Amino acid sequence: MSTPILEVNDLKKHFPIHGGFFGGRTGYVYAVDGVSFSIAKGETLSLVGESGCGKSTVGKAILRLFPITGGSVNLDGTRIDDMPSGTLRPMRRRMQVVFQDPFSSLNPRMRVRDILAEPIRNFGLAKDAADIEKRVGDLMDRVRLPRDAVGRWPHEFSGGQRQRICIARALAADPDLIICDEAVSALDVSVKAQIVNLLQDLQKELGLAMLFISHDLAIVEHMTHRVAVMYLGKIVEVAPKRQLFAAPKHPYTEALLSAVPVPEPGAQRERIILTGDVPSPINPPKGCRFHTRCPYAFDRCSKEEPELRPTEEGHFAACHLHDRPASENPLAGARGAAVIAHH
Ligand SMILES: Nc1ncnc2c1ncn2[C@@H]1O[C@H](COP(=O)(O)OP(=O)(O)O)[C@@H](O)[C@H]1O
Ligand SMILES: [Mg+2]
Repeated sequence: MSTPILEVNDLKKHFPIHGGFFGGRTGYVYAVDGVSFSIAKGETLSLVGESGCGKSTVGKAILRLFPITGGSVNLDGTRIDDMPSGTLRPMRRRMQVVFQDPFSSLNPRMRVRDILAEPIRNFGLAKDAADIEKRVGDLMDRVRLPRDAVGRWPHEFSGGQRQRICIARALAADPDLIICDEAVSALDVSVKAQIVNLLQDLQKELGLAMLFISHDLAIVEHMTHRVAVMYLGKIVEVAPKRQLFAAPKHPYTEALLSAVPVPEPGAQRERIILTGDVPSPINPPKGCRFHTRCPYAFDRCSKEEPELRPTEEGHFAACHLHDRPASENPLAGARGAAVIAHH
C-alpha cells in the first residue's frame, strides 16, 4: 500500500482557559483529545459530529493554524506538525482549505482573476503572465463558472458561486489534499447539492484526497469513501460509508443516523432522541464520554474508556457493547440502526 497522503496520530489540542482574578490558567478545553486517522491518496474521509465536538480544531491543527498539544501530523510520509515554518512552505501548497463562509473568505477588493492568480504566483506555479491567465481560465472551467467572469468582484456572485471561487482558489495551488470545513453548510439546500456534486466530480477528475468536515451526516451520504464520527474530542467510529450507514457500531452514530431521512418511500428509521445535554469539553465525563447520553450504557461505561477497535474489516468503534455476547449487544448483526417499514 502506498503512503497515505495524510496521517494523524493521537492528535491533541487543549486550549488553556484563562480566568480568575489574576488571569491565570484555570483549566483546559479538551477540544481534540487523542484523534488518529489516515487518508489515502485520492480518498475522501468525512469527519462528522455535533457542533463543538472538535472537528474544526482537527482541520486547523492539520493546517498548522496553531501549535498542537500532542501527537503528530504526517503529509505524504513527512512529519509537518513540528516543521519550522520556512521548510513548511512547499507542504502548505499541497493542502488547501475551503471554509464555510464564502463571503468573509474572499477579499472584497480583489477581482476573481487576482484571487485565483495569487496562489499561482505565491507558489511559483506559472511560467509567465500568459500561463497565469491560462491557468485562471482552466480553474473557472473546473468549477463550472464562465471564464469571462474573472473580471468581476466577489459581491457580484451568489453564495454558491462564491463557494465555487473558493474551491477554484484552493485548486489553484495544485494541492493533493483539500480540507472542506462545513463548506456547504451555509448554502441553500439546492445549492448545497450542486457544490457537493462539484466536489465529488473534482475529487474523481483530479484524484484529490479530501477531508470533508460536516456536522450534517446526511450530506456526506452521497459523496464520501469513509466516515469518521467524532464525539467530545474523540473519534468514536470509523468505517466505509456504506457499512456505517447500513450498520453503525457505535450508539452515537446510530442516534445521528436515526435523524437522517431514508430514501426508500414508506420506510423510515426509528428516531433515537438523545437525552441529556452535550457535556462540556472542559470537564468531559469519565469512562466513555458518551455514557451520560447513551441509551445502552452499563456500569463499565462510566468507569473505563473504550478504545477504538475493529468490529469487522475496516470498521472501527470505541464501544464496550462489542465485548458483550451478541444477544446483549443491540449493535451486533447486519443492521444496527433500526429501519421500520410503514405500510
Ligand atoms: N481558540 C479557541 N480557544 C478556546 N476554545 C476553543 C477555541 N477554538 C475552539 N474551541 C473550543 O473547542 C471545542 C471544539 O471546537 P470546534 O473544533 O470548533 O468544534 P466543531 O468544529 O466540531 O464545531 C469547542 O468547545 C470550542 O468552544
Ligand atoms: Mg467547526
